[in-house]
Amino acid sequence: MPDTAQRAIIFDPLSAEAIRDPYTAMAPLQAEAPVYRSDILGAWVVTRYDDIRAAFRDPRLSSDRIRPFIARAPAPMQDMLKPLGDHLNLWAVFTDPPDHTRLRGLMNRAFTTRAVQALRPEIARIVNRLLDDIDAEIERTGNREFDLIHEFAYPLPALVIGHMLGVPEKDIDKLKRWSDLLAKFVLTSRSDPQKYRMASDGIVEMEAWFRRFLEEHRARGAPDVKGDVTTGLLDARDEGDRLTTDELVACCVLLLFAGHETTTQLLANGMRALLEAPDQLEDLCNNLDDLGLVRNAVEEMLRFDGPSLSMVRVATEDFRWRGRRIAKGDRLFLMMCAGNRDPRVFPEPHRFDIRREEAKKNFAFGYGIHFCLGAPLARLEAEIAFPLLLRRWPGLAMAEDDPPWSDSILTRGMLHMQVRV
Ligand code: HEM
Repeated sequence: MPDTAQRAIIFDPLSAEAIRDPYTAMAPLQAEAPVYRSDILGAWVVTRYDDIRAAFRDPRLSSDRIRPFIARAPAPMQDMLKPLGDHLNLWAVFTDPPDHTRLRGLMNRAFTTRAVQALRPEIARIVNRLLDDIDAEIERTGNREFDLIHEFAYPLPALVIGHMLGVPEKDIDKLKRWSDLLAKFVLTSRSDPQKYRMASDGIVEMEAWFRRFLEEHRARGAPDVKGDVTTGLLDARDEGDRLTTDELVACCVLLLFAGHETTTQLLANGMRALLEAPDQLEDLCNNLDDLGLVRNAVEEMLRFDGPSLSMVRVATEDFRWRGRRIAKGDRLFLMMCAGNRDPRVFPEPHRFDIRREEAKKNFAFGYGIHFCLGAPLARLEAEIAFPLLLRRWPGLAMAEDDPPWSDSILTRGMLHMQVRV
């Protein structure tokens, strides 16, 4: 009886233990109550691999999740959140077909495999420059410890996507600040009017910046900017119709935003997993020329302790699932982190194994129609960054025992990560 199973389980996703180790916290749910009602979240929690995969493809589960969130907020907050809502409702990731099909089709044409692969030398250049800066600082101060997130994993994705969009480097810091404010709204589970106000103000400034940027880009036209993703978006047609300016701006902001925090977390969480498994670190360091192994190691990092904790969907009709009654309007948290440790799919799921055969089945980039558009870019950044970093500092080690995790229920990332070279 699912309800009995559910009653025996105490699960607080926001407790200190669950934030530190969500895998152990969710294991009883996965075993006994795979579709679990959480009063704390006011939502269903789905933890088995096959159920998560089915949910990602279920047309009764909608991605349109910003609109209901804002509709539920108290009236004064609704006014404050309006600019944010108006903007986010145009993001492909928060839409369903047919809008999603149109927006995604357009981004697909601009964000091509060729455009991503062409970035290889530029990514290597940016990685080497960041590593050089760290080495120079070590030389200057004699201090061989630094925060890998702040000095490396945080700036790298912003510089790369900025380059890809054709954003001048001098503006990247500003955009990154706005993007971080937006993350406080999009990626946290807690209601915080102060953060929401900042995110709302940030989006207004960011939209104005991108509107100007797009006008300049269009006016300048080819040839110096030809080939970047912004030009691709400007050129792309949606069955003969150009996107509205609002939609174009939203696509740019989404691309700028979506690859930041997540890629930072892949680099940092992945390096932590490696440094905490010396046999795996040694294996990888001995085989850095083996691109197949490096790629598999990145997949295992995404599976074992990747950036994606969960994704939210909203039921568009009543239905029964695994004995539970899901009502129209209910929210479901698809716990990809639990799916990534499901023993039905990943034998010995809690073992970090860079040679694991099924590593690529992980859910880090989602599944179905919203599968991450930027996955090839994130993978490329990681496959370039890890070998360059490990070659530069073969003796890299953690310099703090237990770096704290952020308390988001959607993504998994550390607040800082001191390492020693
Ligand atoms: C390790 C890094 C990354 C992770 C873990 C990640 C994760 C995800 C996930 C789980 C989704 C699915 C959302 C859903 O189903 O609702 C998604 C969608 C998306 N991601 Fe990523 N992402 C990463 C990097 C990037 C990068 C680098 C970009 C672009 C520069 C990007 C752009 C997008 C876009 C545009 C979507 C929306 C796709 C759609 O709705 O059709 N992501 N990402």
